[in-house]
Amino acid sequence: MKEKIAKKFQEQFGCEGDFFASAGRINLIGEHTDYNGGYVFPGAIDKGIIAEIKPNGTDKVRAFSVDINEYVEFGLNEEDAPSQSWARYIFGVCRETIKRGFVVKGFDTVFAGDVPLGAGLSSSAALESTFAYAVNYLFNEEKIDRFELAKIGQSTEHNYCGVKCGIMDQFASCFGKKGALIRLNCKTLEYKYFPFDPKGYKLVLIDSCVKHELASSAYNKRRASCENAAAAIRKNHPEVDFLSDAKRVWLDEVRAEIPEEDFLRAEYVIGEVQRVLDVCDALERGDYETVGEMMYQTHFGLSRLYEVSCEELDFLNKLARKCEVTGSRVMGGGFGGCTINLVKDELYDSFVKTAIEQFTAKFGHAPKVYDVVISDGARKL
Ligand code: GLA
Repeated sequence: MKEKIAKKFQEQFGCEGDFFASAGRINLIGEHTDYNGGYVFPGAIDKGIIAEIKPNGTDKVRAFSVDINEYVEFGLNEEDAPSQSWARYIFGVCRETIKRGFVVKGFDTVFAGDVPLGAGLSSSAALESTFAYAVNYLFNEEKIDRFELAKIGQSTEHNYCGVKCGIMDQFASCFGKKGALIRLNCKTLEYKYFPFDPKGYKLVLIDSCVKHELASSAYNKRRASCENAAAAIRKNHPEVDFLSDAKRVWLDEVRAEIPEEDFLRAEYVIGEVQRVLDVCDALERGDYETVGEMMYQTHFGLSRLYEVSCEELDFLNKLARKCEVTGSRVMGGGFGGCTINLVKDELYDSFVKTAIEQFTAKFGHAPKVYDVVISDGARKL
């Protein structure tokens, strides 16, 4: 990938720049908890974005996306926003950096990636954190700390891409470390690395290749439901800043006051916050059966209570159970994308084969299968 980028950069701009990279992410457990102040448990993966970048002495960014085969130029003022969605991520990162009082000047860039798009692996966070890291390095003597880099990416999603996401994806891309998952408390921002090397097991992602058009508006709607439930609980329990602060019985107290849909969303979130802690404890004991069981519970909640699964993902989840896979669930925001599966080594081949065959027979197209390695996040190459 790096060679391809370097060749194109030379062709397009006639010089050489520095290389920066960042990664997509998986999340073992803790879904839709981040914007509720709960825990998440992600790790960066060996699929990401690489960008070659060089300041160009102008006030314009000139960017070429190898994968989309498209060139875009834009200025750095608010009114210069490009219309191409991939370029808006880069523009957003520049704007959010400037808004925080830091410096961004014109630069040339060529980039490419291997995070599958729309699979729930956060290709957009990988793109944001690559550029956030790079502008920090190139124009700000690395004065911006990693949390702020993650927040720059998150605000880019909020203000330039229309998704009111939490901090998980950008956090994982910025803090990812080879061989470790990171448990983040999204309220206090305390985090802890957990070495992850499950002996005798593999993690495999099965991509349904389903993408839902309305995913961002449905995502924002889930968030609004949670905020509504939290506000109702707060009237009785003022200590509740986020839904994750609420006890299950406190939610029951307000059941009649909120739409049933909001109640179900909140019921899922409160259960999920606890599951992350249970999984971390189980991992420390090497108890993968419990880890897996929690993953199935999360899938159930995401499917029936949070309603962000779909027929294809429910099918893959059921099939995993049938094949005696230790744990399986829809991963990421949902509405399509992947299941993440924790599979015993000896079952791996037969599970993957069965999943491909039966999914294809039922839906008329094959799912994609990705092995992932937990890797480093944003960095200069
Ligand atoms: C998307 C968002 C994250 C998080 C997940 C669900 O990936 O970007 O902030 O909310 O969905 O856990």
